[in-house]
Amino acid sequence: MAGVMGWPVMHSRSPKIHNYWLGKHGLAGAYMPLAIKSDGLHAALRALPALGFAGCNLTIPHKETAFDIVDRVDPVARRVGAINCVVVAPDGSLEGRNYDGFGYVQSILDAWPEWRADAGPIAVIGAGGAARAVLVSLADQDAKEIRLVNRTPAPAQAVAQEFGPPVKAVAWDHRHAALEGTAMLVNTTSQGMAGQPALDLALDKLPASALVSDIIYIPQETPLLTAARLRGNRTVNGLGMLLHQARPAFHAWFGVMPQVTAELRAMIEATI
Ligand code: ATR
Repeated sequence: MAGVMGWPVMHSRSPKIHNYWLGKHGLAGAYMPLAIKSDGLHAALRALPALGFAGCNLTIPHKETAFDIVDRVDPVARRVGAINCVVVAPDGSLEGRNYDGFGYVQSILDAWPEWRADAGPIAVIGAGGAARAVLVSLADQDAKEIRLVNRTPAPAQAVAQEFGPPVKAVAWDHRHAALEGTAMLVNTTSQGMAGQPALDLALDKLPASALVSDIIYIPQETPLLTAARLRGNRTVNGLGMLLHQARPAFHAWFGVMPQVTAELRAMIEATI
């Protein structure tokens, strides 16, 4: 068994994704939403081995606080500063991992197999938790220059300082100009999400050859992606990141590396 711990958690698509794969691979198991408040996380995680769980995903508000509870944290999760997957080891100890960055890169490759992180400068908008996973994955794919733009200067400067090259902070006022000569633009902010205003970013300086990605998947096409598509840029939305981060987690728990099929994608799209 596995599940996702969060509060709130009932909106999570993860049960649908993992239960689809359990069925597909004929495995006798179940993946369930686990509504756990912050003050219950320690007891809930420690109960996993006794309950026969192989592990769990973590979502808001647990991704950072789990650091103080698990027994080990893998290097990627440590660099990201967040745990999105907990694996129960044979001895009952808990290991924290983070597959969000893997999911991000795989979602881009899934849509554009010829994509390379080192094709040219990359502009990343936002410096929050989601941005950190994207930055780690792009740096590990050998990105040569990442222009990190955040509305508030301090978080971008802190992340640039912590990660070092290829990440460098660019002032919010320079965000439009920062797109000049880029091969890729990524939005990791909440702007453009359903109920939120569009990201305030003019694409005039963005090369037509640039790939534009948004980690949002509700709506499936944000105003940023619509604007990019209409001027001829290639685009990728955030649904692939959600689907692909689940693959190595499923593998860690159930021993099979599952695939993101058109059927699975359509099934999740139907819930959006
Ligand atoms: P997550 O973990 O999903 O990344 P987060 O850590 O709260 O969430 O980060 C949200 C990101 O969206 C931040 O980069 C934030 O910028 P600030 O650091 O300036 O808050 C960005 N963001 C939120 N609202 C924004 C807005 N109206 N315009 C531009 N960026 C915004």
